[in-house]
Amino acid sequence: MAINVLSVASEAVPLVKTGGLADVAGALPAALAPHGVAVTSFIPGYPAVLKALGKRAKAIHAWDALLGTPARLLAGKLGAHPLLVLDAPALFGREGGPYGDASGRDWADNWHRFAAFARAGADIAAGAVKGRAFDLVHAHDWQSAMLPAYLRLAPVPGGRDVPSVITIHNMAFQGYYPADIFPQLDLPPAAWTVDGVESYGGVGFLKAGMQLADAITTVSPTYAGEIRSVEFGMGLEGLVQARSHRVHGILNGIDSAEWNPASDPHLPARYTAGKLAARAKNKRAIEQEFGLERGDGPLFIVVSRLTWQKGMDVLLEALDHLVGIGGRLALLGSGDAEIEKAFLAAAARHPGRIGVRLGYDEPAAHRLQGGGDAILVPSRFEPCGLTQLYGLAYGCIPVVSRTGGLADTVIDANPAALAAGVATGVQMNAVSYTALAMAISRTCELYARPATWKRLQKNAMAADFSWDASGAAYAALYRQLLEERA
Ligand code: ADP
Ligand code: GLC
Repeated sequence: MAINVLSVASEAVPLVKTGGLADVAGALPAALAPHGVAVTSFIPGYPAVLKALGKRAKAIHAWDALLGTPARLLAGKLGAHPLLVLDAPALFGREGGPYGDASGRDWADNWHRFAAFARAGADIAAGAVKGRAFDLVHAHDWQSAMLPAYLRLAPVPGGRDVPSVITIHNMAFQGYYPADIFPQLDLPPAAWTVDGVESYGGVGFLKAGMQLADAITTVSPTYAGEIRSVEFGMGLEGLVQARSHRVHGILNGIDSAEWNPASDPHLPARYTAGKLAARAKNKRAIEQEFGLERGDGPLFIVVSRLTWQKGMDVLLEALDHLVGIGGRLALLGSGDAEIEKAFLAAAARHPGRIGVRLGYDEPAAHRLQGGGDAILVPSRFEPCGLTQLYGLAYGCIPVVSRTGGLADTVIDANPAALAAGVATGVQMNAVSYTALAMAISRTCELYARPATWKRLQKNAMAADFSWDASGAAYAALYRQLLEERA
């Protein structure tokens, strides 16, 4: 018998995406199906989601007052898999992003929006919706993290006591709010304790989930270790240590139907590891699109949020060096206004060598991976990172910092790894000007040796980051948690 799992996340490809969480939430149902797990996804009803559901959506449940507002539950499909959507116009019926307005400012009532979402998820998981029964619930990130707290501290009367898993995709976003929201969360007074939802005198959504879920997972084994430290734990390292027997690192996979250079509809030329020459056409297309001159050095690419986490400020410092030694850069990203402005200024300083496109553009992200020589990912921390995995699959060599999932997925082209024929990329030890400049230089040297570079590309493309292993790991964890309850 398949295990029925409710997967709860605030975004999922192809309906709504701001980052890697959406890729993962969108891929999980297909990733888990071969391992005897039937996933139903649950997401908020933003306007774009309701529009995509269209008239096919069926209302299957209603709340008169879900944390104070009326709401309905709609049933639809996410690809071939079942989808539930929370239609609560007062909370989600607004234009802008999932978490903020068009200018990027967070909505002031995000605590209310995502507490209500979690409350609804807890109700559904416990069996409150007729005809839908679940064995286990899997919540993602702070936006869904109150779910385990509601399940444990304010259970549905007569509901099922199902185990819960919380996955941390990014410890930097915790959903931390002042204490005065507590009375509005519909939790019993006893929940206001350090074993409940209280955190440093306020309400910590992610903290609550980590405290009360049956298992905590992170999206790479290295990140699971890193968050035990002050540097990466961001205030929750004590809790991670206390519950370390409940913490598991399970690497993200990539959706190889979406990200496959042999069949990618976004590429001018499709290719395989045996036909790398075809990439030249894709490179020409990038040069045109980004206004770049042709050159002998490598074409570096970036596809990223332009933030401190991603080390984009350090990359800015290293751009003169990159151009000075013959490299070129095509960058696609959006994020901090200051960093965006600085990249535009760098492009103006280096016409024909640096091309910058601000904004979010999924097809362009594919085109860059399919024609760029190397993708720069100098993150200060990276719970998993997907763009280096796409780079590997596309033979766009990842140049990464040695942290989190980047450390777990890229094999540095040091002499030993080159001699053994196993290298897949370039790693730097620290996120500093010096380390990044050295990594860029090293990449240029490798690129100047065509046979070596081709070997790197073939190794990269042969590396298996499909969901097979990770799907099995989640399924094994679910089974273990169910056995504990049995
Ligand atoms: P994070 O979730 O921290 O931003 P990941 O590497 O896990 O980092 O995932 C980022 C995802 O968002 C990838 O699918 C990447 O291709 C995509 N992405 C990031 N920036 C852009 C952009 N400007 N345009 C298109 N896709 C982007
Ligand atoms: C977060 C992390 C990123 C990870 C993604 C999906 O956005 O920053 O490293 O790949 O979630 O798990």
